[in-house]
Amino acid sequence: MDPITTERLTLRDFRPDDGAVLHAYLGDPDVVRFEPSGPQDRAACDRQAAERADDPRFVAVCHGDVLVGHVYLASAPQPLTWELGFVFHPAHGGRGYATEAARALVDRTFAAGAHRVVAGCDPRNERSWRLLERLGMRREAHLVEAATFRTAPDGAPVWHDAYRYAVLAREWPTSP
Ligand SMILES: CC(C)(COP(=O)(O)OP(=O)(O)OC[C@H]1O[C@@H](n2cnc3c(N)ncnc32)[C@H](O)[C@@H]1OP(=O)(O)O)[C@@H](O)C(=O)NCCC(=O)NCCS
Repeated sequence: MDPITTERLTLRDFRPDDGAVLHAYLGDPDVVRFEPSGPQDRAACDRQAAERADDPRFVAVCHGDVLVGHVYLASAPQPLTWELGFVFHPAHGGRGYATEAARALVDRTFAAGAHRVVAGCDPRNERSWRLLERLGMRREAHLVEAATFRTAPDGAPVWHDAYRYAVLAREWPTSP
């Protein structure tokens, strides 16, 4: 992708040598508590950095030269609809970087003709849904026991609720 520069950040493609810094946050059980995968080891992060370097859905977010997290934006099954996600290193949280990065990427997506951007999160993940609301996204659903990423020791799925959020192009402040 063409890099995006915001007031404080640069959004760029991943690079194969981003594995170490990816591991610094994806290896942290607290960071991935609400993610489908558990903590990632260094080898997995090296693989992911290499794969993401060729995968435009994953966008690395840098403050200066430091990779502080990533935003995910992928085409959803519905027409002209994109699904947003984000994971940031906790050492760089609480400064608005995730909001600034997500806003810039959604700006570009609507400018390119998207109709709707959607996102989901676990209701217990308050930092995530507060971010979605800071972006101006609307909570459209509270789905009960609609998702499962883990199994109990007996192998049974552990179900959890899910919020669904969305915003339309005509509701987005910088839309053409
Ligand atoms: C979800 C996640 C990215 C949110 O991180 P965050 O630090 O809360 O979000 P931001 O970077 O946008 O920072 C917002 C905070 O910075 C504060 N802030 C400081 N300066 C700011 C600025 N210039 N602009 C905006 N906010 C600013 C805000 O007030 C807010 O703090 P508050 O929540 O105490 O009110 C982070 O918790 C995370 O990576 N979690 C793990 C992965 C995850 O669960 N991802 C979502 C899966 S659905």
